Amino acid sequence: MSEENKGGKLTKTGVVLLGISGGIFGVIYAVTTPFVLPAFRRICLPYVPATTTQVNNVMKLLMGRTGKVVDLGSGDGRLVHEAAKLGFKASGVELNPWLVWYSRLRSYQLGLHKQTAFYRKDLWKVDLTSYNTVMIFGVEQMMEPLEIKLDKELQEDGQVIACRFPLPKWTPTDIIGEGIDTVWLYKKQRDDLSQSSDKHCNTPDGSKIATDEVS
Ligand SMILES: C[S@@+](CC[C@H](N)C(=O)[O-])C[C@H]1O[C@@H](n2cnc3c(N)ncnc32)[C@H](O)[C@@H]1O
Repeated sequence: MSEENKGGKLTKTGVVLLGISGGIFGVIYAVTTPFVLPAFRRICLPYVPATTTQVNNVMKLLMGRTGKVVDLGSGDGRLVHEAAKLGFKASGVELNPWLVWYSRLRSYQLGLHKQTAFYRKDLWKVDLTSYNTVMIFGVEQMMEPLEIKLDKELQEDGQVIACRFPLPKWTPTDIIGEGIDTVWLYKKQRDDLSQSSDKHCNTPDGSKIATDEVS
């Protein structure tokens, strides 16, 4: 049966069906858009959660240390939650609002909400000066500009734990795992500072930019 009456107007059923399909489309659009948007940023950092091996390797390098930890691009919060279980005050910075809310919910479920915090922020705009350890599971193109940001902002005795992709110029003090599960530990050093004194970097399209401009 047609949903239109003779005058060309929609029937009540037609209006309801149109409303329902519009609503479904709206929900799908709202949920999926934040997962797709990273692909359109200058540096594409998609949501790829760390595997159990990667999480374990990061935690091995974190063990025995103290202070405040932040995961840049925290996804569903798994690294932050594991760090909190080790006793750290752990924060996550994440652009995707759904992942931020999911991470907060998981914190409550795991009883870790007092040790954790999740912020919906662009990692390039976060001030890193108050953190002792920065965790990053990034992509290759972002490691050079990130290294320059760390040079500027990470405190003198601060450390970085990089999963899957290393920092290009800093010298690691420890490396564990292999292949895609490799994790590097770095301590901020004066040598590293001088090596990266040029506060510009190459973008994926080959142009030079100041790190402040990356987002
Ligand atoms: C490779 S995933 C890593 C997730 C998590 N750290 C883990 O190990 O499971 C990178 C995350 O960074 C987020 N992201 C991408 N660009 C970002 C930005 N500019 N600022 C903050 N988060 C960003 C993505 O939404 C994604 O969740």
